[in-house]
Amino acid sequence: MKILVTGGAGYIGSHTVVELLNNNHEVIIVDNFSNSKPEVLENIKKITGKDFKFYQEDLINKDKINQIFEENQIDAVIDFAAFKAVGESTKIPVKYYINNVSTILFLLEIMDSHNVKKLVFSSSATVYGTPDNVPINEESKTGDTTNPYGTSKFFVEKILKDLYAADNTWDIAILRYFNPVGAHESGLIGEEPVGIPANLMPFITKVAKGELEELKVFGNDYDTLDGTGVRDYIHVVDLAIAHEKALEKLIKEEKGLYIYNIGTGKGYSVLEMIQAFEKANNLTIKYQITERRPGDIAKCYSDTKKAEKELGFVAKKSLEDMCKDSWNFEKNLKK
Ligand code: UFG
Repeated sequence: MKILVTGGAGYIGSHTVVELLNNNHEVIIVDNFSNSKPEVLENIKKITGKDFKFYQEDLINKDKINQIFEENQIDAVIDFAAFKAVGESTKIPVKYYINNVSTILFLLEIMDSHNVKKLVFSSSATVYGTPDNVPINEESKTGDTTNPYGTSKFFVEKILKDLYAADNTWDIAILRYFNPVGAHESGLIGEEPVGIPANLMPFITKVAKGELEELKVFGNDYDTLDGTGVRDYIHVVDLAIAHEKALEKLIKEEKGLYIYNIGTGKGYSVLEMIQAFEKANNLTIKYQITERRPGDIAKCYSDTKKAEKELGFVAKKSLEDMCKDSWNFEKNLKK
């Protein structure tokens, strides 16, 4: 199959492209490098030994995107192109809504006009807001989001549901990711946040490297085993495999709109993450307990039964793999 991957040079996109190429799909990447680098493309080729087409383009440029569909016989789209920083989204919400909501509307219109109706969409566990219960299953309430990033993902989910209700010849998989961490085992691709990282694992690796002084642990008075926040961390390679499995479902089965949580089902606290990182890499991470971060919740982890039953997806990589691979990527990264 010929798959268009928007945001294919990004963190999750690049790992998914590797899985698609390894499964003998043809890949076309569209990326504007707003949060990624051209070297990623070379590194994907090094890892897989395979080639793909690439267009440096922004999805806002409708005519250019339309042209890509004119030039290529595309069978399905995996859409990763979006802004993803929770904190930043509270400062520039309009930009988030334009980039995360408008562009997919353009994309859907173009897909429809070329009769390309298979889509895997990157959503996020953030659509659940503050969950009533953990583990969170796909039937849990959504929409009570706490920041524009989360709301943008919720809006797009709603748009996709409306689209499917109006035209059931679409075939859509919405994947709600929990907390992606880790990197490809080659150390060639991984997460490279711009500036000071907002997320836990990239912050830990920067402290390990000596680029940041110490980790601030945001609160130790939550209702959790050690008082620090609990999350469902999933290795990015497992997450990439989940996309490949979702795509296979869209290719093989009846048409439909499917929603899956993609996590491991296990929750780890911030202190457990620090300990696991120290043990896996034989390093010490300096940290200090500070105030809670506004908007954070105590516990968030996934009920994984639906993805296991319907996609045959089970995350295989361990916490140790996540810690080792994150560090292996970071330590080889040039400043
Ligand atoms: N944390 C710290 N110190 C830091 C960074 C994080 O203690 O410097 C803690 C947080 O308080 C939280 C945990 O580490 O308890 C994880 O925080 P992250 O920022 O890594 O991740 P979040 O769970 O807040 O959010 C992430 C993504 C969202 C996504 C969400 C889905 O950033 O995009 O997971 O669960 F929607």
